[in-house]
Amino acid sequence: MSAERGSSFFIHTFGCQMNQADTGIIAALLQAEGYLQAEREAEAGIVLLNTCAVRENAVERVEHFLQHLQGRKKREKGLIVGVAGCIPQYRREEMFSLYPAIDFLAGPDTYRTIPSLVEQVRRGGKLASLEFNSGETYEGIEPARDGATSAFVPVMRGCNNRCAYCVVPFTRGRERSQPFSSVMLEVQKLVTSGYREITLLGQNVNSYCDVENGYDFSALLDAVSREAPLARIRFTTSHPKDISESLVRTIASRPNICNALHLPVQSGSSRMLGRMNRGHTIEEYLEKIALIRSVIPDVALSTDIIAGFCGEREDDHQASLDLLSKVRFDSAYMFYYSTRPGTFAAETFEDDVPEPVKKRRLQEIIDLQNSISNELFQEAIGTVVEVLAETESRRSSEQLMGRTAGNRAVVFDRAHYQPGDLLRVLITGATSATLTGRPVPAVLP
Ligand code: 5AD
Ligand code: SF4
Repeated sequence: MSAERGSSFFIHTFGCQMNQADTGIIAALLQAEGYLQAEREAEAGIVLLNTCAVRENAVERVEHFLQHLQGRKKREKGLIVGVAGCIPQYRREEMFSLYPAIDFLAGPDTYRTIPSLVEQVRRGGKLASLEFNSGETYEGIEPARDGATSAFVPVMRGCNNRCAYCVVPFTRGRERSQPFSSVMLEVQKLVTSGYREITLLGQNVNSYCDVENGYDFSALLDAVSREAPLARIRFTTSHPKDISESLVRTIASRPNICNALHLPVQSGSSRMLGRMNRGHTIEEYLEKIALIRSVIPDVALSTDIIAGFCGEREDDHQASLDLLSKVRFDSAYMFYYSTRPGTFAAETFEDDVPEPVKKRRLQEIIDLQNSISNELFQEAIGTVVEVLAETESRRSSEQLMGRTAGNRAVVFDRAHYQPGDLLRVLITGATSATLTGRPVPAVLP
């Protein structure tokens, strides 16, 4: 293996936006030690998988990759394979016996050890660095970013909730927030570099709290939007129980904060929400939605929903369908329940909804949500929307792809526009996942 190859790395990222942001942190840590980021996995001597454990199928995808890397290891002496993120934190050292390709393991709180793990592996042996550190916010590390238009800024990590189905509190540990001053410093740098969209990230982003300086999430969001007035500001994921009136008013009052909220509901049935330990009923959820819509009438709402949680009956499932019809979310991430060993649900409840029933209920949820999203898309035809151009369209270099403030993808004629431009687009058509249109001149003041 050439020296260059041995010192170059490639990271495969699985799972949520938080993991994508963490990949940027890992890349920055490796680059600071002189490692180079390879364009393709085949060019790298160090391959890392940054993993997600939240659902069984996410874990299965990683397993397939590890089989492929086992094949590569047989052919290429000296190839180093590391697994980072939620799966190793959850499965711990048993990973080594299950997947012989792995040389080292690092959890979400130990990314700083990765460069030294690589060095130690080179000298021989297999290593795990899986301690929790509830003080670790990765303050001061500027993540490596791809693209120059949109940037993620993790502002808090971990989760103090105990939703019965969820593995996150076991993999990412207790909540901790990045100090206000350090978030602002990162935002200033992004502004100087010309970023046009900043997404504040956290497992429960709206429970952000800088205790020493007295900033809650709405104060942080307000300050970020003022520091970056030319950028769109987004944030995810919000917990319904932590949606405050002041947060809703901040979103409404600041023009550059996108009128969009991702608010996972998980089920339309209060009985199931109780079993899930979500901390609110469906009536309370709907009250929050009513508050949000009364203050931000054009808000785009999205959600997460799980079909077939332990003990779910047909009437609970019907309540989830009714909720989708009532709220008419712009979009939803829809899953069927998979038991995660060690969670409260796995220890306490029987996973008693048969798989075919889970899948059928999920399909009904998907079909209903797709028809609602389609209707909302059709209603958008003929309107003029503000779009941030992101990339060239996959189909043609004559077209660009961008997003509305409500996060809808729009493909439009390129004209003289470039990625990074904010422009007005007349919507002329809609496919199942994308709006299409053409730029219209900006209205002069
Ligand atoms: N099974 C299915 N979906 C799950 N989620 C979390 N845990 C599970 C599980 N065990 C979903 C929730 C959460 C999203 C990130 O993943 O909807 O909001
Ligand atoms: Fe998991 Fe609930 Fe925490 Fe979200 S709020 S990460 S679903 S425990």
